[in-house]
Amino acid sequence: MTRGRFIALEGGEGVGKSTQLRLLAEALRARGHGVVTTREPGGTPGAEAIRAMLLDPAGEGWGPRAEALLFAAARADHVDRLIRPALERGDWVLTDRYLDSSRAYQGGGSGLADADLLALHAIGSQGLLPDRTVLLELDPALVAARLAARDQGLSDRIGGRDAAYHARVAAAFRGFASAEPDRFAVVDADGAPEAVHARVLAALDA
Ligand code: TMP
Repeated sequence: MTRGRFIALEGGEGVGKSTQLRLLAEALRARGHGVVTTREPGGTPGAEAIRAMLLDPAGEGWGPRAEALLFAAARADHVDRLIRPALERGDWVLTDRYLDSSRAYQGGGSGLADADLLALHAIGSQGLLPDRTVLLELDPALVAARLAARDQGLSDRIGGRDAAYHARVAAAFRGFASAEPDRFAVVDADGAPEAVHARVLAALDA
């Protein structure tokens, strides 16, 4: 049995990752692959419990270091209990966010060193990286319009941070993509879901 492929979708809030994940899973299943879809933080009961702590807007929350450790702990459980077993069975794993979200948010957004976030990932998840990371990019003005329609003014603790924070996150994602062009595929997320989906497939087929 060959090992399955591991694909992460990344990008800021409101770029359409969940819709694209669903369309990509349908396309891969139609090609005969076993597909597991999942998300971060979350994907296992333990990681979903950590997600609730991290994103619930009540309480005073966590400083950047505690936050980074919690994301890394959630990822460790997710990798051990869901991602690695699925890949070993030969399934494809599609995840809505993964390590690069920690590098972009806790690193680019909150200022932690990238080397420290990679060190946490080495400890927690033995450094497992996706075979391909699809970065969905969308103009911030279009994102704002989509989020206003989707969230009706309610966003989670991290999604609700200011525009400067999210601009640093977006710049960090772009920097990772240009530093690792073999792992990343950057896809323009503007337009109808089916049009974006066609771009995602073309980027992965390439
Ligand atoms: P979402 O995936 O539903 O958008 O919510 C997850 C939020 O958590 C989003 O604001 C990005 C943030 N996040 C981090 O800050 N670091 C991480 O490592 C991950 C996976 C998510």
